[in-house]
Amino acid sequence: MPIDPARPALPRVMSGMRVSGGGRLHLGHYFGVLKQWLVYAETAEAFFEVADLHGYTTEFADPSEIRSGRDEMVIDWLAAGIDPKKATFFLQSAVPEIAELQLLLSMIVPVSWLERVPTYKGQIEALGAEIATYGFLGYPLMQLCDIAIVKGAFVPVGRDQSAHLEFAREVVRRFNHLYGNGTTILVEPKPTFAQVPEVPGTDGRKMSKSYDNAIYLSDDEATTAAKVKKMLTDPLKVRRNDPGRPEVCPVFSLWTLIADADRTGVVASGCRSGELGCVADKADFAEALNAYLRPIRERRALYAADPGAVDAILAEGTARTREIAAQTMRDVKRAMKLL
Ligand code: TRP
Repeated sequence: MPIDPARPALPRVMSGMRVSGGGRLHLGHYFGVLKQWLVYAETAEAFFEVADLHGYTTEFADPSEIRSGRDEMVIDWLAAGIDPKKATFFLQSAVPEIAELQLLLSMIVPVSWLERVPTYKGQIEALGAEIATYGFLGYPLMQLCDIAIVKGAFVPVGRDQSAHLEFAREVVRRFNHLYGNGTTILVEPKPTFAQVPEVPGTDGRKMSKSYDNAIYLSDDEATTAAKVKKMLTDPLKVRRNDPGRPEVCPVFSLWTLIADADRTGVVASGCRSGELGCVADKADFAEALNAYLRPIRERRALYAADPGAVDAILAEGTARTREIAAQTMRDVKRAMKLL
């Protein structure tokens, strides 16, 4: 579909993922974000960004995994079924207009707005004071520039991103107020959240690479089965015939993501009555999960074997994004009296 940068025909959707730790995506990404992206790729004019520069905010000392991770991530997007003919994939660092926009917007962003974004202090507590750089402080501003450069109106993200979007909206309002002369130059981006509850990892905490509790789209079937076998279940269901509580069991939470109500109903009642033991349930679940992921993994293998095609998809999308970015920069510079 040819894109008219001035007048998008469909609502414009923008989202991105930070590249870190090798870029491999897990079930939390798939159910929390990628399934939303799939829908938007079909129904909106969607831009999906490989946020490699955001990776540098925490991994600046050793960026090697960012470089290898960006292809891995795109391969996972493609494996999830997002059609690169319907959505535009682009590489953040190859769109220098984003960095230029960030410099211009930095003039109007009070430092206190950035300091009070909760992820700033939270991440310093989690990762240490050495990540408290100027670049890291600017993380939410860079994120806004990713969105604003394509004038994204809707941003499908996880709930952990709501403070970043709130910040983004405030900056856009300030920009339009200062330079818009009564018109809207930058679009206030609205977050859209997946309707699924948080995806638990194998230990019952939120699935996350850093907790080492993730099942990856790129795991093979044996690895997946081994991870499922070790999963925590209801701690009060000790023996096979003890009645269990599916509502506290992470295996059951994952069941509800991949199976229909009939199947989950059978699992839940078997668990509650004590007829179904955790060992048997996990064996059934591993099989069902591998079957669910099989088409994704088959697509993954095809793209992984063709790195040239993956590079071409990213290069083509990046070129398309830069055309729109150039238009946005003209609008911004005119408003700021640089042109
Ligand atoms: N900060 C987002 C995250 O950690 C990733 C991201 C970077 C992003 N740029 C974006 C998300 C633009 C939405 C829009 O998940």
